[in-house]
Amino acid sequence: MLSKSFPTLLTLVFALSHISTVFTFPVYGSLAGLSERELDAILPTLTSTKPGTTPGPLKYNGTKLIYDKDHLWNPIKPGDIRGPCPGLNTLASHGYLPRNGIATPAQIINAVQEGFNMENRAARFVTYAAFLVDGNLVTDLLSIGGKTKLTGPDSPGPASIAGLNTHAVFEGDASMTRADDFFGDNHSFNQTLFDQFVDFSKRFGGGLYNFTVAAELRHQRIKESIATNPKFDFTSPRFFTAYAESTFPVHFFVDGRNPVRALSMENATLFFRDMRFPFDFHRAAEPIGPDGIREVFAPYPIKAGKNINGINTYTPDPTSADFDTFCMLYTNFVTKTVGGLYPNPMGILRTNLIINLKTLYGGLSPTANCTELFPYGKL
Ligand code: HEM
Repeated sequence: MLSKSFPTLLTLVFALSHISTVFTFPVYGSLAGLSERELDAILPTLTSTKPGTTPGPLKYNGTKLIYDKDHLWNPIKPGDIRGPCPGLNTLASHGYLPRNGIATPAQIINAVQEGFNMENRAARFVTYAAFLVDGNLVTDLLSIGGKTKLTGPDSPGPASIAGLNTHAVFEGDASMTRADDFFGDNHSFNQTLFDQFVDFSKRFGGGLYNFTVAAELRHQRIKESIATNPKFDFTSPRFFTAYAESTFPVHFFVDGRNPVRALSMENATLFFRDMRFPFDFHRAAEPIGPDGIREVFAPYPIKAGKNINGINTYTPDPTSADFDTFCMLYTNFVTKTVGGLYPNPMGILRTNLIINLKTLYGGLSPTANCTELFPYGKL
């Protein structure tokens, strides 16, 4: 009996030890929401990095050729990561970001400034908001999408490696070309939704996507989510990012030499579906920040809120920030969202949270006059 079971036992022990040595936590995996036990197991396996210097504004900030010979388009290779943001996907497919889709926040800020002429404070705020909740604060890396689910006995769970695909902390509902998380895939290009994007551009923009189309389509996507997604959530930060992202195709996907700020469907297809700059693409003619958001909001104003009890139960949430309470966006994000994901950080994790929160605050416009918060103390 013993001689029969002995090899089996040995095989089992070997297999188990093999699996646990094979499992390594990805350097770009988010540590948000992990238990102290999980953090104790993962942190010693990571090489910690002090956050790098945050890039300042561009020195030359006019239009210029972006699709150049040093930034040719490559199709994605096995292992490359892409996600819900057509802007970052395109930058990665042209090598303005690492082509594998894993980048530092500084690389993202440089890339969105260089490739699209996004204004420095806006780039900083959006990048650090996403990085704080979806990135690895110890290695200073963020994945612009998801990745194969981790399995194995030591796996901390799939949610921790979803990068920008992670639902509800930054990514959210009612996207123009991506389905709501409730329906199973919140990050892939969705042809049916893109057909609606094209249809709305025909009906309201004469075949081009402009701010009029943006307002109509934003309203439509909100109505659809209220009527079909029982978990629809349109509270801050999604309330802000949804309107901002509706302006991005007009600001950033239109060639900087074109005086008409409206996007053709041919070029929309290249960016949204193919993650590719149009041939000879020149970036915006000047740095652009949060302009146009109110223009998209004004025709169909709505309070931040959610479906509280199934479809068609949309109810305003007075605890959510909206356009009248801008500093609450920052306050809620720092105290509730980041605070909830990192209730008790220690060591390098706490140090880097303090540094990254400072950078996030630096992305707010001084005219907003928001009070800086220090939930983890100062250095
Ligand atoms: C600055 C760093 C940026 C980060 C971290 C970021 C991240 C994201 C994320 C997570 C989403 C998904 C939101 C959702 O639908 O739930 C998104 C959507 C979007 N992003 Fe970005 N983004 C950035 C910059 C840009 C830039 C520079 C552009 C344009 C050049 C852009 C264009 C868009 C558009 C158009 C959408 C909406 C997609 C849709 O609704 O179908 N983003 N972004």
